[in-house]
Amino acid sequence: MEIVNDVRDNLLAQIAASDTPRDVLKSANLKKLYSQITTLPAAERGAYGKTINELKLELEAAINLREQVLDDATVEPLDVTAPWDKNASVADLLPTEFGSQHPLTTELDNIIDIFTRMGFEAIESRQVDDDQHMFATLNFHENHPARDGYDTFRTEEGFIPPAHTSTMQNRILKAGKAKLEAGGQIAAISYGRVYRNEDVDATHEHTFYQCEGVFVSKGANLGQMLGTLRSFFETYYGQKLKIKTQPGYFPFVEPGLEFAIEKPAALGGKPGEWLEMLGCGMIHPNVLKAAGIDPEVYRGFAWGGGVERLVMLKYGIEDLRHFESGKLAFLRKFL
Ligand code: PHE
Repeated sequence: MEIVNDVRDNLLAQIAASDTPRDVLKSANLKKLYSQITTLPAAERGAYGKTINELKLELEAAINLREQVLDDATVEPLDVTAPWDKNASVADLLPTEFGSQHPLTTELDNIIDIFTRMGFEAIESRQVDDDQHMFATLNFHENHPARDGYDTFRTEEGFIPPAHTSTMQNRILKAGKAKLEAGGQIAAISYGRVYRNEDVDATHEHTFYQCEGVFVSKGANLGQMLGTLRSFFETYYGQKLKIKTQPGYFPFVEPGLEFAIEKPAALGGKPGEWLEMLGCGMIHPNVLKAAGIDPEVYRGFAWGGGVERLVMLKYGIEDLRHFESGKLAFLRKFL
């Protein structure tokens, strides 16, 4: 029995330290214990056999435990950025250890970069706002029919997930007022997600991104605005572009314009194929007043448009819904 105990202690110690604990069952000492049974007098065989059996069960349990510990240690850490099909039979998974940026985030970074290099401050828009910022300070009085054009969602409390980044204009103007009065100018963009209660199709989404610009100074004019926009679009697409405007209506600008570029041949466009990119115009005097800025002294221009539209043209993406789809085949193209 003492020998059995020695062998037992020794094997348990080996199991606890081994990377392949099951191999311990092949140990010579254990085999020796088994074979011992034949050398014993018949009267002792029963008790001995029982002891050996218990030993086997004990070793088995210790091995299982050790294997479990080893297994747990080799399980990959949970990757919260992993795509939903991480465990599916897809050969070329994304490099999930690091995750990757959504193409819209990358493109928004590019856009912000271009404008900040032009001297614009970049301010993120809000995900929840109120009637005051979304409409009232933008010269939509109550019951203004243009409110219907924005298909806004509302929470039960009356808050609004904004339908355009213009919801930031009043804040930008108020925050910049001191700068104007010190002889400077306001130059800011606001960017972020916007929401509209729209029927979804290849060119409409309920959730999308906009980027908006606001510029105010003593002598701001439409020529400066068109120059700014041309310069942005030509930098973003890396080529000279033809631009045009036509009248457009937004309560917060006067005059209001729609700004279009000719689809470049390099991006599959034919001459005369115009793409409307954004709405813009001179900031309405009432909008300046709502921020405490005297429209007799200062003028401003503003523009705003969808980000997806820019990106779709750049990469020849035909369906807006890809962006919010989470489809790997789409996302992988931007790695
Ligand atoms: N907010 C307008 C829209 O979403 C675009 C716009 C912004 C127009 C600024 C004029 C000036 O349609």
